[in-house]
Amino acid sequence: MPISPYLLLPRAPYGRGLSAAASPAPSGSGEAAEAPVAEDAQLFAVPFAADLAPEVDLPLPAAALLAHYEAKGEAGEVVEVPVANGETVGRMLLYGIGDGSVGALRKAGAAVARRGKGRDAIRIVLPEGPVAAFVEGALLATYTFRIGEAKSPPVAVVEFVGDGVEAEVARGEVIAKAVSLARDLANMPSSVKTPAWLAERAAEQGVTAKVWDEEELRAGRFGGIVAVGQGSANPPRLIRLSYEPEGATGHVVLVGKGITYDTGGLSLKPTEGMKFMKTDMAGGAVVIAVLGALAALGVRVRVTGLIAAAENSFSGTAQRPSDVITQYGGRTVEVLNTDAEGRLVMADALAYADAELDPDVMVDIATLTGAIGIALGKDLGAVFASDDDLAAELAGAGESTGERLWRMPLIDDYAPALDSSVADLANIEVGSSYGAGSITAALFLREFTGKRPWAHLDIAGVGRSGVDEGILSKGATGYGVRLLLEWLSSR
Ligand code: BES
Ligand code: MN
Ligand code: ZN
Repeated sequence: MPISPYLLLPRAPYGRGLSAAASPAPSGSGEAAEAPVAEDAQLFAVPFAADLAPEVDLPLPAAALLAHYEAKGEAGEVVEVPVANGETVGRMLLYGIGDGSVGALRKAGAAVARRGKGRDAIRIVLPEGPVAAFVEGALLATYTFRIGEAKSPPVAVVEFVGDGVEAEVARGEVIAKAVSLARDLANMPSSVKTPAWLAERAAEQGVTAKVWDEEELRAGRFGGIVAVGQGSANPPRLIRLSYEPEGATGHVVLVGKGITYDTGGLSLKPTEGMKFMKTDMAGGAVVIAVLGALAALGVRVRVTGLIAAAENSFSGTAQRPSDVITQYGGRTVEVLNTDAEGRLVMADALAYADAELDPDVMVDIATLTGAIGIALGKDLGAVFASDDDLAAELAGAGESTGERLWRMPLIDDYAPALDSSVADLANIEVGSSYGAGSITAALFLREFTGKRPWAHLDIAGVGRSGVDEGILSKGATGYGVRLLLEWLSSR
């Protein structure tokens, strides 16, 4: 069966209205583009299949065609037109790029690539402007996670065509690959994804890896990770990944929550909430994927990634509500709810980083509280920070990558919520005189960060998607990979 040819029209020839002339250039000069639509179309027509004649004419002037389809040139808009392909009829996609901004191009890339789903390949002539975002959008839109071959539809291979865009295309590919890895890890069922399995995947990222097993964790006094992991047949791990470029400009520590399954422990979750909990290591997956992409992006800052990995199981060896544990560094915590486990494993890793790694900045990322999804919904991650500049930098990186962050407050007045009568701290509030579950969780973590600049990203609301749309597919989103890579690239 012959493959349908897809040809794509780049630039913004039908950007403003549908007039053939003088639509603004998508980026750069700010001057109006001179080329009429039809010429542009021919200039950028690219044969997709080897047997397709290279010169492809539109059946009608592009302006007339686009007017006919009432196309406005908005980002995400795609018009399919028939074109001559030798003796046969082929197809060409005309895609809008809106204002040509980073966000518009990412959306355009996703929309075009989605039209290639179910086909063998799609060749896309790139627009002008920030092409990395376009490439990233196109590749992420075709992401799928499936186990077994049977039901897999053919996934389009996306090819890009453009002049002098190699570096930008490569950057987009590296970023999309990192996000896809984070999604793959988080989508993997927990029957496979034990803490040890996660450590193996982390060690494959081309950076130096050290892994503490359960014996070493106990000997090293990582009491939080040990306590959360003790109920599972799959013992916990702490994973450390080190990226050390020559002449590093500073040292950032990233800490990720790596709960490979969260039953809630003896404070058992209902099935409705539990079935999504294979993705409770999404923050850890982000840290693994980020560490794996730093070299390819030429990041100049030293980065250490810590992934606190444990399975929060329900069993006779599980910790009990009212147990008192000793976190790394010696602080005692009364565990009043075993479902508030993320903060226990994160506290060990943060305290270890503060005591042993001397970072300039620490950023943690965790699917920490269901409450943040209620506060901010599915599109907005939360950033808590001890440092205003750091919060602004991260929020800025989130803005340009489309992984938006909303700053949440660390309200000191709420700190007494975590007072315990038997230990230094409790892991949750008894009663609800303070409330604000996401804030009190962040305040708990802050206790273990020393006086260092620190930010906490709560991605419980945005870590998984219920829709297959734009750059997202159902399941894990990889949220945080792109914003952290952007932030680290700028340091
Ligand atoms: N992993 C959950 C948080 C979560 C909830 C992530 C929904 C993604 C979607 C976390 O360990 C948890 O169970 N948090 C509790 C805290 C509570 C016991 C104080 C929660 O949010 O209910
Ligand atoms: Mn939990
Ligand atoms: Zn959890």
